Amino acid sequence: MNDFNFVDEELDLLSQNGLKRELKTVITAGGPWVELSGGKRVLQFSSNNYLGLSNHPEVINACKAAVSKYGTGSTGSRLLSGTTELHASLEKALAEFENTESSVFFSSGYAANSGVLSALINKDDAVYSDELNHASIIDGIKLSGAQKFIYNHNNISHLESLLKENKDNFKRNFIVTDTVFSMDGDIAPLEQIGIIAEKYNCFTIADEAHATGVFGKKGSGIVEELNLGKSFPVKIGTCSKAFGVEGGFCAGPKSVIELIKNKARSFMFSTSPSPAIIGAILKSLELVIDGSWRREKLWQNAKLLHSGLKKNFKLKLNDFKTPIIIIYFNSIEEAMNIDEKLFNECHIWAPAIRPPTVKESRIRLTPIATHSQDDIEYVIKAFDYLSKDIKPQPLGVSN
Ligand SMILES: Cc1ncc(COP(=O)(O)O)c(C=O)c1O
Repeated sequence: MNDFNFVDEELDLLSQNGLKRELKTVITAGGPWVELSGGKRVLQFSSNNYLGLSNHPEVINACKAAVSKYGTGSTGSRLLSGTTELHASLEKALAEFENTESSVFFSSGYAANSGVLSALINKDDAVYSDELNHASIIDGIKLSGAQKFIYNHNNISHLESLLKENKDNFKRNFIVTDTVFSMDGDIAPLEQIGIIAEKYNCFTIADEAHATGVFGKKGSGIVEELNLGKSFPVKIGTCSKAFGVEGGFCAGPKSVIELIKNKARSFMFSTSPSPAIIGAILKSLELVIDGSWRREKLWQNAKLLHSGLKKNFKLKLNDFKTPIIIIYFNSIEEAMNIDEKLFNECHIWAPAIRPPTVKESRIRLTPIATHSQDDIEYVIKAFDYLSKDIKPQPLGVSN
């Protein structure tokens, strides 16, 4: 009974279906090129290090300075001994960045979503959630105990019909959406969601994880870029992607943040993030705000890559809306075949994304601001070379 045989059976099943994941070990700092255990040097196209800040000397120095002053650990949860002056400064700076009254920092974006949603939403409420929302949103909704209604991806009329049918049966109604969908590289129709929220008296929560640092003049995301702060007063962001560090946050009205600090279990029952991380983020935030040239370089690289790949008629690409470039495949096998060839023959690291993460297998390419033009052109050539193994997708296959 105690030999956990069922585990081997599950693992075998994953292998048989081409769904077993293996980890690759990196032995250098993150950047446009990385070296892996065994010595292979690869062109990195699978990170979320959009602005290339994960290895920035000023961020590293700020991290070292925080360790020297405060030591390695935060020594306790935020509500006990784990709030240093750095944590307080970061929350103030993030609120200013997001143009909100207040903010609260979590150890990850995952912890932010699971904590915020379960703190603000109760079991008498309903949540209307885009079908492609991130797993951390899905888990946060589960934890809240609220009734969940899934609307078809970015489909406002479906959202509206669900609201019309159900909203009167619940104490409060919440609409929750990613602003950038990380596995399709597209954007939520935020303006329309704002209008619907107003019309049906709903609360909104927008997750800007992949938009933070990438959109907006000062880089706080799409809500800033579209000037939709009134429609989306509560925002989630991450410091693990464009900021090049880690952690997540929620920014919003003072009372909302106060309640989250008093109710979110992932905030209350977990050791506070270390001062070193907070020191690094404070510097990174400065670089994000002052670094519009980094955003421009990121967008330039992404545009070059998308337009180059688009010339290859065998590839089925997403539309160009964000720096996340997706190539869809007919099957898991075809995506895995290209993943392996990209890696083994072309030294490009862009792993296939497969079910259950997504329905349709794909390669997700994420150029960053520190890739050179040569790096980008090399990837385009690599796909031209590999195209002999790619069957064009039949028309009508949906994204
Ligand atoms: C939309 C979205 N929200 C939240 C997260 C979780 O953020 P973190 O990686 O900081 O835990 C992710 C991670 O990819 C994400 O894509």
